[in-house]
Amino acid sequence: MNYRHAFHAGNFADVFKHLLLALMLDYLKRKEGGFRYIDTHAGLGLYDLSGDEASRTGEWVDGIGRLVKESFAPEIAALLAPYLQALGPQATELYAGSPVLAQRLLRKQDRLTCCELHEEDFHTLERRMGRDNRLILRHENGYRALKGLVPPTERRGLVLIDPPFEERDEFQTMEEALAMAWRKWPTGIYALWYPVKDLRAIGQFVARLKERAIPRILRLELAVEAVRSEGGLCATGLIIVNPPYTLEEQARRLLPVLAKVLARGPGASALVEVVQGEALA
Ligand SMILES: C[S@@+](CC[C@H](N)C(=O)[O-])C[C@H]1O[C@@H](n2cnc3c(N)ncnc32)[C@H](O)[C@@H]1O
Repeated sequence: MNYRHAFHAGNFADVFKHLLLALMLDYLKRKEGGFRYIDTHAGLGLYDLSGDEASRTGEWVDGIGRLVKESFAPEIAALLAPYLQALGPQATELYAGSPVLAQRLLRKQDRLTCCELHEEDFHTLERRMGRDNRLILRHENGYRALKGLVPPTERRGLVLIDPPFEERDEFQTMEEALAMAWRKWPTGIYALWYPVKDLRAIGQFVARLKERAIPRILRLELAVEAVRSEGGLCATGLIIVNPPYTLEEQARRLLPVLAKVLARGPGASALVEVVQGEALA
């Protein structure tokens, strides 16, 4: 496990993922009853953007750095609000990763379970999330833990699967974890993050998900320049199983704007594709 998210915190891929995550958590809050947020690959929780790792790549400058400088039309600003409010005024200093973002967005009746396998990162995460009786942190393989975490007692909620993609078979591992969890908890929302580099692998991944007959799947992608298979990341995606009924329309309005604001070169674009079923239920 060599991957360190601190080098990439707040970059365009984080903005894309966290923005959509905040919209989905916001949707879950429409009902009074509590829900569960499960983060299988939690990371450090908070990232010092002036720290050594983030400064060495400077990736956040073209991600959250650009977003906070831009002014948006009111309907786009409303879609950005849950994310930007949860990040708070320190967005470009101490950037919140997925578990802290969720911790800030959840209400007292909601709960979160976060897994982090890397020993040192787990202890950092523990310190950064602090004491919170809504929170369970597990120093464990998130893929393996997932089986025992679903369905949660709340019966409503969202699972984020955000692995580092260091392993060649990550798409397959992710697909199997999703299939197992979906069988046990078919009504949960699942968000699976992936890098857009190997278009063939993504095509196969999506085709295999279709074969599993999961009825509602939405595919969202953002490219900040033309996709390439080698070198640094320039496009990213999320597969959402059981997307909130609002999400497809929100993504259709938001992602093209995001592609424009975060563009690094020709080929910046957004994709919203209903892979399976009617995303607008
Ligand atoms: C992409 S980062 C997570 C970023 C975080 N979800 C966010 O959005 O802020 C992936 C994290 O997963 C951890 N990790 C790698 N393999 C894991 C596994 N099998 N189970 C749990 N954590 C794992 C890594 O140490 C790393 O911190």
